[in-house]
Amino acid sequence: MTSNDPLGIAVVGCGGMAGSHLRAYRELAQSAPGLITVSATCDVDEARARRAAAEVAEFQPEAPRIYTDFRQLLDEHRPAAVDLVLPHNVHHTFVVEALDAGAHVLVEKPLAVSMAAGRRLLAAHERACQRSPVVLAVAEQYRRRLEERANCWAIRDAGLIGEPRMIFSQRVNLSMGLIVGTAWRHDRLLSGGGWVLDGEVHTFDLFHYLFGRIATVYAAVRTFEPLRYQDPQTLSGPTPSDVEDAAIAVLTFESGLIANFTWTQAAPGKEFQRRRYYGSDGSLDQDGLHKRDGTVLSSAELQEQFLASLTPEQKETLFPYDTRDPVVVEIVDFVRAVRDGTAPEVDGREGLAAMAVSEALYESEHAGTPIKVADVEAGRVRAAQHDIDAHWGLL
Ligand SMILES: NC(=O)c1ccc[n+]([C@@H]2O[C@H](COP(=O)([O-])OP(=O)(O)OC[C@H]3O[C@@H](n4cnc5c(N)ncnc54)[C@H](O)[C@@H]3O)[C@@H](O)[C@H]2O)c1
Repeated sequence: MTSNDPLGIAVVGCGGMAGSHLRAYRELAQSAPGLITVSATCDVDEARARRAAAEVAEFQPEAPRIYTDFRQLLDEHRPAAVDLVLPHNVHHTFVVEALDAGAHVLVEKPLAVSMAAGRRLLAAHERACQRSPVVLAVAEQYRRRLEERANCWAIRDAGLIGEPRMIFSQRVNLSMGLIVGTAWRHDRLLSGGGWVLDGEVHTFDLFHYLFGRIATVYAAVRTFEPLRYQDPQTLSGPTPSDVEDAAIAVLTFESGLIANFTWTQAAPGKEFQRRRYYGSDGSLDQDGLHKRDGTVLSSAELQEQFLASLTPEQKETLFPYDTRDPVVVEIVDFVRAVRDGTAPEVDGREGLAAMAVSEALYESEHAGTPIKVADVEAGRVRAAQHDIDAHWGLL
């Protein structure tokens, strides 16, 4: 590929999240014509692959090829890059095959179904790069939202809360209907875990982005409701599930920061949600900044100050083509990494580090003790993942 050729990307897995990726490709067809081409769509469900291809044909001149078999896609189509939007249990095998075929890979979070699967995938990337450099990027978009970019600036660059001290991160509700459309999410062997891995991996990546690495985790993880419902109020559409629905944890960071983390979707009655950061000079949350000296800045004012602080080059990196869609940002970051030979913002290591925190919650519950995240990342602690690793031949 020369720097002027569009990067051909095959979208593999055309379910729920692929919709957000296709919206991003549509925006880029308008804002950055010639940057990428969706060269193929692939799903075991042919109707989904066809629907996705039809959607692509609305915004780019060439219709993508359609596949139901990933290996056939790799052999016949030989895509320059693949965008993998698949259930967690196939991430590692699909990433490894794509890398071995010489394709650049963007894979949805979490990186893999277990830490062993994630490490296998990183090893395959290293091997592939010895032959010829290829990019492995993780589709992690939360940190690329304007509000999180502004928070990062406020905390790390402008020092507006002073020395970070504490995080309070709580999401408490009853939302077990969430997952009924994607049955694999109820099955640990397919998903690797519940929302602590699936959803809160975003939170842990965000914490790493804002505050540096999490060092230890002490957690209690529970499954209060082994049946999940289409409508949790009326208890209709029960689906059995073996993944957790509640987790409460204390996290400590390498910097000394401490966090109180709660996530549950098994809390009937009144729900609440907040994420607030405290430092020596004040606090920051979704409403804005409250300083120790009484100064208050709304989040809109913070974002305005942040945007005003950026050079045009920084703005183009953080919000390419002036987008506010974080999925567009992650895709452009991936394309630029391929084109310029640079590291993507969230590479395989960063993806593994975020999922190691989710896995550390499971390991802490299993062991009944605090767990060092580094031990989980390196594979020294892995008992809670044993059944998953055994099932997928990862021991
Ligand atoms: N970044 C985010 O905010 C976000 C949000 C939702 C999901 N995700 C991630 O996206 C990925 C997919 O989640 P989803 O909600 O779209 O799931 P989904 O079940 O809606 O879609 C997955 C698709 O993959 C297809 N598929 C399964 N096995 C396949 C195979 N062997 N070959 C080809 N196609 C296959 C399925 O038929 C389905 O259409 C997961 O990694 C998930 O964690 C990310």
